[in-house]
Amino acid sequence: DNSLNIPKLLNGKKVLVTAGATREYIDPIRFITNTSSGKMGSSLASAAQQLGAEVTLITGATPLPPIEGVKMITSHTSEDMKNAVLDYYDDTDVVIMSAAVGDYRPKVKHQGKMKKQDGNLSLELERTTDILKLLGEKKKHQMLIGFAAESDNLVQYGKEKLKKKNLDYIVINDISNFASETNSVILLSKSGTSWEYDGPKPTLAFRILESIFE
Ligand code: CTP
Ligand code: CA
Repeated sequence: DNSLNIPKLLNGKKVLVTAGATREYIDPIRFITNTSSGKMGSSLASAAQQLGAEVTLITGATPLPPIEGVKMITSHTSEDMKNAVLDYYDDTDVVIMSAAVGDYRPKVKHQGKMKKQDGNLSLELERTTDILKLLGEKKKHQMLIGFAAESDNLVQYGKEKLKKKNLDYIVINDISNFASETNSVILLSKSGTSWEYDGPKPTLAFRILESIFE
């Protein structure tokens, strides 16, 4: 057991982590989602717990293994996740929003199974709530750590999200790492400090938290 050697950087802090993909339903059995594995988020929840924090992990629809000492809550849609996050927000010191939340949902959810018709089908989609932006607007004592999933212009888009959502830190990653065991990230603070890390997600999770809290 090497846990005694880990400095408890997050002792006494309440940390809320979100992880994985949300699902936006078309009918009771069909949905729109993305390929996020939830591994970065669950690695961060585990690392925060080992660093002494009281951790709540809100997962999307992606099933994730339980983590010892971490309270886990399952949500499915972005709306479920928003409600779960808001339930905890006032009593949270640090929010790490690593979930890949759907940006759009079908405007209508069919109550019964949708039957096929001849010809093409168009689905009308509407925007979901940007949970992290909402947290940024309501921010009081909380530290907000967001993610940015990008395929190009990583730093530029990441900086824009950091500012627009009133974040303290943003972890920028390339979407090619979405379902991978490893990740390559740029961590940016609102004061302009930046760090770059790559490696297995569990190791990266510690590096990210150490950079922020040391
Ligand atoms: N996020 C959120 N609620 C949403 C969409 C995103 O809380 N409805 C959060 C994510 O969890 C992440 C951050 O916002 O921490 C950035 O998500 P990302 O998908 O990279 O950026 P968007 O702002 O959604 O913009 P776009 O997808 O167009 O790049
Ligand atoms: Ca998005």
